[in-house]
Amino acid sequence: MGQYKDLRFPADFLWGTATAAHQVEGHNTNNNWWAWEQTPGHIEDGTTSGRACDWWNRAEEDLDRAAALGQNAHRMSVEWSRIEPRPGEWDETALTRYRQIIGHMRRRGMEPMITLHHFTNPLWLEERGAWENEETIVLFNRFVEKVVEALGDMVSLWCTINEPNVYAYMGWADGVWPPGKRDIRTAFKVMRHMARAHVVAYRTIHRLQPDAQVGIAHHERPFDPLRPGSALDRLAASLQNRVFNECIFASMYSGRLSLPLGWGRVPEAGDESEFMDFVGLNYYTHEVVTFDLSRAGELFGRRLVRDGVELNLFGEEVYPEGIYHCLKKFARYHKPIYITENGTSDHGDDRRRRYILQHLVQVQRAIAEGVPVRGYFYWTLVDNFEWAKGWSTPFGLIYLDPASGERRPRPSAELYAEIARANAISRDILEAGC
Ligand code: FCB
Repeated sequence: MGQYKDLRFPADFLWGTATAAHQVEGHNTNNNWWAWEQTPGHIEDGTTSGRACDWWNRAEEDLDRAAALGQNAHRMSVEWSRIEPRPGEWDETALTRYRQIIGHMRRRGMEPMITLHHFTNPLWLEERGAWENEETIVLFNRFVEKVVEALGDMVSLWCTINEPNVYAYMGWADGVWPPGKRDIRTAFKVMRHMARAHVVAYRTIHRLQPDAQVGIAHHERPFDPLRPGSALDRLAASLQNRVFNECIFASMYSGRLSLPLGWGRVPEAGDESEFMDFVGLNYYTHEVVTFDLSRAGELFGRRLVRDGVELNLFGEEVYPEGIYHCLKKFARYHKPIYITENGTSDHGDDRRRRYILQHLVQVQRAIAEGVPVRGYFYWTLVDNFEWAKGWSTPFGLIYLDPASGERRPRPSAELYAEIARANAISRDILEAGC
């Protein structure tokens, strides 16, 4: 008898990949990101999204590849600037195109999960202040209503908003994403508006589609103390956890604003206290933090990378146990959990293979301990435009040459396929390691 046994996943587990409209569709010329990309210096490698993966024309081909690789689900987003190119004007041909793509997915036996906002805003909305402006709550709801009326018969899993904390941090704290500001107070205002917009959209979706499953895709990045024995390191880590991970999720979940997002209830929440049917977890890495009195702006926590750990192309630690800890933490909500994103970039494929295997082992460990994980979406299917990193950090199971459009599955696509088809990590895979 070998040392390993098969690690099984629950029946009906969803195995998929995740994408976002702007990163794959190409020529989304009418949104804030396209405009941002045109200024030299904004995208690290000097590229633009351009034709991206040409999904507006070629999505079906890649979905066929995903289905052939044993995947039974796909998470994608719809692009607001295509559907509502000018305020209150709807482009029915864009909605028809999304119906084709989602219909294709269904015919290939893949369950769609649709994200309604994944970082991009129509230019007209951006010009009105986008999420800095309270009016966006109403405008987003009108958009959600239109999309759910058009696509609801084909979709039952909805993510209202992708990673509000990352959107606010990158745009208003780090300032390397549009609108490129450094203004923490406004970052919290943006998150508050997103929390309110989620509550309103949650209601709208359920009014139109009572059986829908609605959540968000929450980016959880655990902050761990460098020296667990040090009360000061623990304090610094817990403050950062509170601000980055907890406030936004708790506010969106319960409709009760959690400091420092604000006091009291989301005004639109009424008497209800639950606004999520599932927890969507995006997990990539964790942060190690030590107390530093000189870092008031970072809540006295200096982030650092420990010696000897494996890093991804962003210089972040590869930390598979982190996904297990996140899943254990989210089990407290007693809701189904989907891993809405998890993945790594690698110019070769060895790191990617190892990353997938190590993270799935941790996911299965949580499941074996009773955590209700229902699906896993690897980020991403085909190399795509990675925001401010441009084309320099390929995450795909499938390699893409952005110039020619040529695709080539990487070995990790086969590893993932083997696991998805077996609905288990087999003993053979574990014995071979990566
Ligand atoms: C997440 C984003 C996704 C992609 C991955 C690498 O934060 O949701 O669009 O950029 O990171």
